[in-house]
Amino acid sequence: MPRSSSSRSKIALVGGGNIGGILAQLACEKKLGDVAIFDINAGVAQGKALDIASSAAVEGFHATLTGSDDPAILRGAEVVIVTAGLPRKPGMSRDDLVESNAKIISSIARHIREQAPEAFVVCITNPLDVMVGHLQREANMAHEKVVGMAGVLDSARFRHFLACELGVSEQDVSAFVLGGHGDSMVPLVRYSNVAGIPLPEIVRMGWTSQETIDAIVARTRNGGAEVVKLMGTSAYFAPAASAIAMAQAYLYDEKRIFPCAAYCKGVYGVEGLYVGVPALIGKDGIEKIVEIELTPQERTLFQESIDAVSALNKVLVALREQGKV
Ligand code: APR
Repeated sequence: MPRSSSSRSKIALVGGGNIGGILAQLACEKKLGDVAIFDINAGVAQGKALDIASSAAVEGFHATLTGSDDPAILRGAEVVIVTAGLPRKPGMSRDDLVESNAKIISSIARHIREQAPEAFVVCITNPLDVMVGHLQREANMAHEKVVGMAGVLDSARFRHFLACELGVSEQDVSAFVLGGHGDSMVPLVRYSNVAGIPLPEIVRMGWTSQETIDAIVARTRNGGAEVVKLMGTSAYFAPAASAIAMAQAYLYDEKRIFPCAAYCKGVYGVEGLYVGVPALIGKDGIEKIVEIELTPQERTLFQESIDAVSALNKVLVALREQGKV
C-alpha cells in the first residue's frame, strides 16, 4: 500500500512517457512533493512510479509515487503537468500534431476539471501555444492557473548555446525568448546579457561577432528539431527541467519571471490568445505579465510569431466546429 502524506504537496503528471518520467524523477529529487502519474498505459505509469520510488533509498528523498490509468489519481493535486500526446518524429513540425493532440487534450481537460479544478496546470504538449489555449478552454479554469511551458526551454537552449560560444557558465547568461513555441519564436538579443553585460555590448567588445549571435539565434529557433533529428523523437530532459522550475515557482511562491505561454488579453496588442511572454509565477499562478518595450524590428518579428500562433489556432477552431477534437 502506498504511504500517503497530507503535509506534502501533490504533483500530478498527465502522461508518463519520456517527459513524464523525467518530471517524476525531478519532482522527487527536488523534494517538491508526492507524485501521481496518469497515463492511458497503466503499466507505464505504474512501472515508472515503482522504478523511481526504488531510487529513493539511494537518492534520499521521501515521496509517495503512484501510477494509474484511472483519472481519479489526479484528485487533489496542487500542480498538474500535462505531456499526454504524440511527440514529433523526424521531418514533422509541431503543427502537424494539432488534430491528434487536441483530441487527447480534450479528454485530459475533463479529467483535470473533475479531479483537480484548483490546480496550477502546466501544459507541455505540442503544438504548445494552441494546446494550452485548448486545455484552458475545455477545462474552463482560470487563465492565470493554466500556462504553457516553452519559453523557459527555448531560453535555456539560447543560454546554453551562448555559454558554449563565450566559454562562460550558463548561470551567468540571462536570455529570453518571446512569441510562440515554433520556428517563428523571437530570441531577444537586446534583452539578453552575460553577467549583466548586454549581448550587443559583448559584440562591440569583440568577444564574439554579430554573425555568430545570428547563427545562435537561428540554432535556438531550431533547437527542438535538432534534437528530434539526432535521436528520432522530441527532447525530454530539458523540457522536464523547465516545467519543474515553473511548478516550483508556484508551489514555493518564488515570484520568478519566466517566459511562458500565458493568456494575453490587451498586453502586447494581443487579444485573447496564449503566446510566449515574460510572466511572473507565484502562489496565484501567473500573477503578472511583464510588457517590455520593443524596437520596430523586434515588434515585427513578434507580430509574425503571434500571427503564426493565431493561424494555427484558426485550424484548431475549425476542427472544433467540425466536432473533430
Ligand atoms: N491520456 C493519458 N495519457 C496519454 C493519453 C491520454 N489520452 N494519450 C497519450 N498518453 C500518453 C502516452 O501513453 C505516453 O506515455 O502520453 C505519453 C506521451 O509520452 P511520449 O510519447 O514519450 O511523448 P513525450 O516525449 O513525453 O512528449 C509528450 O510533449 O514536448 C511535447 O511534442 C511533445 O506533444 C509531445 C508531448
